[in-house]
Amino acid sequence: MTDRKARPAPPFAMVIFGAGGDLTKRLVVPALYNLERNGMLPEKFAIVGVDHNARSVADWSAGLRDFMDQMTQAKGSEFEDRRVDDSLWRRIAGSMSYIQGDFTRGETFARLADHLKARAKDTPYGGNVLFYLAAADRFFGEIVDRLGEANLLHDGDGWRRVIIEKPFGHDLASAKALNARIARVLKEDQTYRIDHFLGKETVQNIMALRFANGFFEPLWNRDRIDHVQITVAESIGIAKRGKFYEATGALRDMVPNHLFQLLAMTAMEPPVSFNANAIRGKKTDVFCAMHPVRPGDAVRGQYGEGLVGGEKVKGYREEQFVAPDSTVETFVAMRLHIDNWRWAGVPFYLRTGKRMPKRSTEIAIRFKNAPYALFRDTPVDMMHADWMILQIQPDEGIRLRFNAKRPGQTVALDGVAMDFRYADWFKQAPSVGYETLIYDCLIGDATLFQRADQVEAAWAVVQPVLDAWAAEKPRNFPNYAAGSAGPDEANALLARDGRSWRPV
Ligand code: BG6
Repeated sequence: MTDRKARPAPPFAMVIFGAGGDLTKRLVVPALYNLERNGMLPEKFAIVGVDHNARSVADWSAGLRDFMDQMTQAKGSEFEDRRVDDSLWRRIAGSMSYIQGDFTRGETFARLADHLKARAKDTPYGGNVLFYLAAADRFFGEIVDRLGEANLLHDGDGWRRVIIEKPFGHDLASAKALNARIARVLKEDQTYRIDHFLGKETVQNIMALRFANGFFEPLWNRDRIDHVQITVAESIGIAKRGKFYEATGALRDMVPNHLFQLLAMTAMEPPVSFNANAIRGKKTDVFCAMHPVRPGDAVRGQYGEGLVGGEKVKGYREEQFVAPDSTVETFVAMRLHIDNWRWAGVPFYLRTGKRMPKRSTEIAIRFKNAPYALFRDTPVDMMHADWMILQIQPDEGIRLRFNAKRPGQTVALDGVAMDFRYADWFKQAPSVGYETLIYDCLIGDATLFQRADQVEAAWAVVQPVLDAWAAEKPRNFPNYAAGSAGPDEANALLARDGRSWRPV
C-alpha cells in the first residue's frame, strides 16, 4: 500500500504477455488509461504487447479502444457514461507497439530484447521494464525462464519486475514448484504475484479501520468476537470461462487467494510499519497459525438451473465447455480456525459461489452477546446480535448493528444500524482496482502483492480438502438452484455450531 504521494511513476516500458487476452482489455489497459487520467504516468512510457496472433499495433490498439467504448455503454461498468477522452487515449495508443510471437520460443524473446533496445531510442524509459504475465497460467514458468535466457531480467541500468497473475499454482506442490522455478532467475523483490482483491479500496481500508482508530482494535479478539463470516457471493455464472473453470473450480479460483486475503486483513496482528515485508510477514503468520481445513469442515456445491434477478438461467452442466456430468464445484463453504492468542476458539466461516442471489462481498464480525440479566424482568425476551459488517462491494461501506431502546414507556429493544458509505463521503474516481497494483509495482512497492511463503502457506491450509475432494467425487450435484444462497449442507455447517449465515 503506497503512501499515495501524488507523484507520477518513473519512466518505464511495460511488456504485456497475453496482449490479445481478456484480462488485458478488461482490466490492464483501462487501468493504464485511468492512471494517465489521474496524472500518475510519466512523460515517457512504452507499452509493448506480445501475443501469438498476427496483428498490427493499429489493430491491437483499435480493438482495445473499441472495448473501452463498449464499457462506457455497459450498465454497471466502472466506465458507464464516461466517454473515453480522445487526447488521453492518443497518449496511451501512441505509446504502444506489438510483437507477434510464441511464448514458448526463445526466438520471440530475442526479438523482444532487440525491440526494447529500439524503443529506448524513441522512449527513454531508463532501463525500467515491467513484464506483465497476463497469459494463461501454464505459460508463467516458461515465460520467466525465457526472459532469463534472453538476459532481460537483470536489474542494472533501471529495474526489471514481473507481475504474475492468478492462479499461482493449482495446489501446494505446483505452487512450490513454480516458486522454485522462477526463483532460479528472479529475485523475490522482482516478483509481484497479483491478487486483485488487494487493489480494492475497501480491502485496503481494513487496515485503516483497525489500526487508525482507537476503539475497534481493543475489541478485535476472542474476548469480544463470537465468530466471523466472510462471503463472496456472485450472481454471474461462469460466462465463457467454461474451460478454465472446469480445470479450476470455486475452491482454487477464490479461496486460498481472494477470501484468504480478506481473512488475513481481518485477522493479522498490527504491523510495525507500512513496509511491504512487515505487512506481508503478519499476513503469513495468520496462514501459518491456521489449522489445515478438515474435509468435514468444508462443503461444496454446484448450481443447477434457476432464477437469478427474475431471469431463468441454465445450470452449470449446461454451460459452454462444461462436461454434462461435471463434478466441479461452483460453491464452497468452510470453517477455519486460527490457533493464536487473538483468535483461538473463534471460528471463521468462509463461503463463495457463482449464481447466488446477488453480488455481494462482505466481512461480517459477530460480537459476543451482552449478559441478559438486566432485562430478565422486562418484556425483552431477546437481544439483537451486534455485528460489524465491512461491505467490500458493491455499496462499499461499513455498518454497525446494535441494540437501542425503542421509544416509549416500556423497556423494549430494537436492532438499529449506523452506516458509513464511501459514496457519501468520498468522491471516488472510477477505478478497475488494477490502477493501484500497477502503480505500486512501477514504484517498487510490493505490499499488496503476495510473497512466495504466503502463497505456499495458503495452499497448505486447503490442501487436505483438495485431496479429499479429488478422492471422492460428489454424488448429489447439482445441489443448489441458481439464485439460491448455496446448498443446504452450507447451512448445516453453521447450524451444528448453533449459528446461521447472514442472508445474501
Ligand atoms: C477472479 C475469479 O479472480 O475474481 C473470478 O477468477 C471471479 O471467477 C473474480 O468472478 C471476482 O472478482 P471481482 O473483482 O469481480 O469481485
